[in-house]
Amino acid sequence: MTQNDTAGGAAAPSGAVRPDRLAGKVALITGGANGIGAAVARRLAAGGARVVVADVDDEAAQQVARDAGGTAVRCDVRRPADSEKAVALAVERYGRLDLAFLNAGVATGCGLGDDFDLERYRLAMGVNLDGVVFGARAAIPALRAAGGGAIVATASMAGIAGIPADPVYAANKHAVVGLVRSLAPGLAPSGIKVQALCPSFADTAILGDGRGLLEEMGFPILPVSAVVDAFMRLLGSDGTGECWFVVPGRESAPFEFRRAPGPRA
Ligand SMILES: NC(=O)c1ccc[n+]([C@@H]2O[C@H](COP(=O)([O-])OP(=O)(O)OC[C@H]3O[C@@H](n4cnc5c(N)ncnc54)[C@H](O)[C@@H]3O)[C@@H](O)[C@H]2O)c1
Repeated sequence: MTQNDTAGGAAAPSGAVRPDRLAGKVALITGGANGIGAAVARRLAAGGARVVVADVDDEAAQQVARDAGGTAVRCDVRRPADSEKAVALAVERYGRLDLAFLNAGVATGCGLGDDFDLERYRLAMGVNLDGVVFGARAAIPALRAAGGGAIVATASMAGIAGIPADPVYAANKHAVVGLVRSLAPGLAPSGIKVQALCPSFADTAILGDGRGLLEEMGFPILPVSAVVDAFMRLLGSDGTGECWFVVPGRESAPFEFRRAPGPRA
């Protein structure tokens, strides 16, 4: 799913992967049972892709898989074996893997003060960071076997900017950004691109009680469809190692990091 997949034919939103180029592609979507993952699963399936919806929320995953004509698999992304099982299922059922959308995530719900909670910390790091590491490790051999493909991790704007209200979430999302930028060069020769999707607040259950606060502050919340549109543009791009911001009122694009200072003799 590179820019070659976007050339010519039927209309697609500017820069987005052309829907007819999705036909026959096989996508694994972690956290695919709800929110952004479910909406991406449906959009990919509408373009003719076959989707494997991997999640701990079995009932919702099965519903999304039914709607998308795909397959649901129970997968706790904190466990390496579960990601391996999900990739194996995609290959066994559909013959290949072209895209791993590593999107499962949880809110942290604690800070580093009196509210620190070791279990919540481990859960947030386990799902948001380990889940991407284990998902990528499981997917890379299958993507290589397919002759190339894409890994897209859902990071967050919290992976680009510091978030005083939730430092642990910002830490694991920054780590995902660092992972994506670091993995990309080594996988490029195998035709595997690695990208991060970095949404601002989007209208899903993960917002929990924070939603009311955001509304009170008048902070605009992205509709999930805007995040999916950005995902499709990212998928249609030739870039790798990029972190695409998704922010209300702005056209999504790769965030431009400053060059790090190198040593001076
Ligand atoms: N909604 C936002 O404001 C926002 C903003 C930036 C980034 N994100 C990121 O987007 C991604 C998707 O979140 P969402 O907003 O759609 O929220 P959501 O709660 O609707 O979806 C998250 C999904 O992850 C699944 N999940 C949780 N733990 C899991 C585990 N251990 N193994 C497998 N699946 C697991 C949940 O069951 C759920 O289906 C997350 O990585 C989140 O951090 C969300």
